[in-house]
Parts: sequence; structure tokens; C-alpha cells
Amino acid sequence: MDFPIFHLDFFGDRLMIAVIAILHVLINHGLAVGLVPIVLCMEIKGLKDPTWDRLAYKILTVAFIITTTVGALTGVGIWFSSSLINPYSIGSLIRVFYGAWFVEWTVFVTEVILIMIYYLTWKKKHKTEAHQLVGKSYHVLTGYALAIFSWVTMAIIVAILGFMMDPGNWNNDRTFLSGFTNPIYVPQLTFRTFLALTTGGAVALCLTMFFTDKNSEIRKKSVRFLSKWIFAFIPFTLIAGFWYYLVIPEGMLKNMSVAVGTQQFQNYYEILRQVLMYSLGGVLLIVGFAFLYPRFTPPKWAFFIPVLLMFGLLGYFERVREFIRKPYVIGGYMYSNTFRVEDYPLLQRDGILKHSAFVSTKEVTAHNQYEAGKNVFLIACSRCHTTGGVNSLVEKFDNMYGNTGKPWGASAMKAYISNMHLSRYYMPPFPGNEKELDALIVYLKGIQFNSAPAEGVQNTGLELGTAKDQSLTSNP
Ligand code: HEC
Repeated sequence: MDFPIFHLDFFGDRLMIAVIAILHVLINHGLAVGLVPIVLCMEIKGLKDPTWDRLAYKILTVAFIITTTVGALTGVGIWFSSSLINPYSIGSLIRVFYGAWFVEWTVFVTEVILIMIYYLTWKKKHKTEAHQLVGKSYHVLTGYALAIFSWVTMAIIVAILGFMMDPGNWNNDRTFLSGFTNPIYVPQLTFRTFLALTTGGAVALCLTMFFTDKNSEIRKKSVRFLSKWIFAFIPFTLIAGFWYYLVIPEGMLKNMSVAVGTQQFQNYYEILRQVLMYSLGGVLLIVGFAFLYPRFTPPKWAFFIPVLLMFGLLGYFERVREFIRKPYVIGGYMYSNTFRVEDYPLLQRDGILKHSAFVSTKEVTAHNQYEAGKNVFLIACSRCHTTGGVNSLVEKFDNMYGNTGKPWGASAMKAYISNMHLSRYYMPPFPGNEKELDALIVYLKGIQFNSAPAEGVQNTGLELGTAKDQSLTSNP
């Protein structure tokens, strides 16, 4: 562990990444990848009928404002949050995908430039009618380019997401090509593409309700067009979703019930799965109704329902994907606690403290057990747990031992933590040695009744002296 540890002891580190990343995905899929092709189709229809053109422009205005602000910021936010919380895994991913990320960056910059051009030149007036026509056809071409580039940025990132779940043959040959063409890549990309198109349809339908007049011709035409769009893509989304499910490695499916509903609700797994199905059913129902009676509309806000259902589904899939990958951050190669699988024998022999550059205790002694145990908690558990906030260890142990107000039993805790990975597949094995495990237990028992937040380096600061005399060369 060569990095000082950043930690949010109330909100939880996982949750910070999750909130930023999920917001980003909703905007990327729902307002860029899925929505741009719709705007483009509407613009093309608008070549004959200007009411389509006006509607398309209004929808694009919303997409433009949100994607270039919150969308772009959360994209950068994913980098910031994940490199703060897990610099090792980001480092490993960059080593494998350096070239791909470079290309992605250029594609992304092009996408931003294209959306600027596409949006800002939409209403450009040309001198003559003929020029106007030529200008418009170039504008449509920009729309095609934008649609393609938005998809390509997603297509590159999805390779990396698939790799994190199952690196496939990369674990043997360590080549970029094996990593990029991992077994989950194509099914996941296909699924996301259709899911994005469906979500884009729901967003466009909702906006259309606000941007068109109830009795206008364009309301009827656009509602019909968008509901057909959604109907067309839902079956593909389902089929691709099933395909994606089939390539998920069996080990990960064992985490599925906790992934879908957290441990507390895992028995409701079945119910939750039905809720997911009903969400899609709900979307179909509202959209079907709009298709049959485009003019008889329920209140406009009702069309937020399909959008929220689709966003809910998308967000849920992200959570499940992130969860079932555990205990790994990169399948078979690196655990979510940032340690490499191959370093475990060394760490379990020497201890994790010895191999950490920025800790206040380099080994466990009879006098420093509490402090050393806190360091062990920060290194081994804090990527996923807090002491008293989200996924709090005090709460977890209280649940396990019945919250009777009696001190938890040290030997039971020791037995549990030593074997936790065998029954709780989402947790990595304890990485340290026995002394460190004892220290961790002293610390945890210490906070059972005296909660004191375990602060990350952003609060405690870093004494540079500590790092200096604890030479970096001892790291694995
Ligand atoms: C990769 C992330 C991760 C790491 C690292 C991790 N845990 Fe967990 N742990 C979880 C999750 C997720 C849960 C279940 C949360 C839920 O849904 O209730 C959990 C649950 C638990 C539970 C309750 C289990 C039960 O059966 O009720 C205990 C106790 C626990 N963890 C202890 C630890 C300790 C101690 C460490 C550090 C040595 C640790 N965990 C490291 C993710 C992790």
C-alpha cells in the first residue's frame, strides 16, 4: 500500500463513487447515446415538415445543457473519486488500457466539439434557399457524426467495465487485446446500446409532452413516432439483457441476491426481480396508452414515470454490476481492498502494515494494538465499510451478535474474519497476519461502545516524517 488512505467514515467510499458514476451513466445513456439518434431522426423528418425541426431543437437544448454541464462534470468526477478511493486499481487499469483511454479521450473531445457545432449552428441562416439546403444537409451529417462518436466513447469504456468483471484470457497472457476482447464486452455493450435507446425514447417522449401543444398535429405524430421507437427497442433490450446475464461468471451469480437487495433484503430477491420486470411493463403500458390515444393525455407529469422507471432500471443494473464483481475490483487479479491476489501470501506472512508506506504503526506491539488495529481497518476494510455510517462494522457485528449490549466475543470475531470470504463471497480474505487480525479485533471492540470515526488522511493530514523513515522500498 503505497498511498495514504482517503476515507469517508460516514457516507462510505463506495457510495461516493456510486452516486457520481450512476448519475453520469443516466446522463450518458439517457441524454446522449440514446437521445441524439432520436433528435437526428426528428431533424431528418424536419426537412419536409418544419414542426419536427422545431421540436428536435427544443429536445436537443435540454440534452445540450445537461450533458455539457452535469454530464461532463460527473465524468471527470468518476476519475477524481475512484483515484482517491482506489488509486491502485485505477493505476492497473491505466497500465492495461492506456492506448484505449487515450483514444477515448480524443473521441470524447471530438464529441464535445460536435455537440457544440450541432447545437449552436442549428438555426444558422444562409443567404439563398439553395445554400440553406446544403447547409442543412451538412448539419444533418454533423448529427450522424455526433451520434456515432457518443456511442464510441461508451463502447470503449464498456470494454474496461467488462474487463473488471472478467478479464478472460488476460489473466494468462496479459495482453491488451485479450483484456479488450474480454468475454463480457460484446454482450454488455449490446445490452447498454438498446437500454440507452429505450431510455432516450422515454426522455424524448416526456420532453415532447412539454414542448408540443395538446391539439397540434406534431403532438400526435411525435408521440406515435416515439412510442413506436420505445416498443421497437424494449424486446432487444430484454434479449440482450439475457445474453449479458448468460456470460456473467458463475462465481459472481452467487453474489446476485445480496447485490439486488443488500444483505438485509436478500430474501426479497424474488420480489425485487419482479419489481424490475414490472418497471418495464409499466413503461410499456404508459407508452402504449400514449400510442393509442396520442391526444388524450394524462397530466404531463405522468410521462416522468417511464423516465424514472428507466433511470431506476439503469441505476440498478449499475449497482448490481459493481456489486457482483466483488470481492474483486479486477476479476481474479486484484481484490476490492486494493491488494493483488498474488501478493496475498507475502502479506499474510509479513503483515500489511509492514508493506504500507503511510501508516502510523509499522507493526503490532503490545502497546499499540488499538492504533495498529485502526490502521488495519483503514487498509483492509474501509474501502467498503465505515465504523458508524453506511455499511458500518459496528452495526454489522451488532447484527451478528444480537446487539445485547454485551461486548462481542473476540474469539468468535477472529473465527469469523478469518473465514469471512468463504461464506460471504463478496468479501476478500483477510489480507494481514494473525497479530494484525488480533489488533483489528481490539480496535473493533474498542469502537463497539465508544464510537470514534476512523478518519482518512484528508482529515488527519500526513506527517511527512512518517513516510520518510518508513522506507518505500519495502513495498511489494
Ligand atoms: C469488497 C468490499 C468489502 C471489504 C473489503 C470488506 N467487506 Fe465486509 N461486507 C461487505 C459487504 C458488501 C457486506 C454486506 C452488506 C450488506 O448488504 O448488508 C459486508 C458484510 C460484513 C459483515 C456482516 C456479515 C454478515 O454475515 O452479516 C461483517 C462482520 C464484515 N463485513 C466484516 C468485514 C471486515 C472485518 C472487513 C475487513 C477485514 C471487511 N468486512 C471487508 C463488503 C466488504
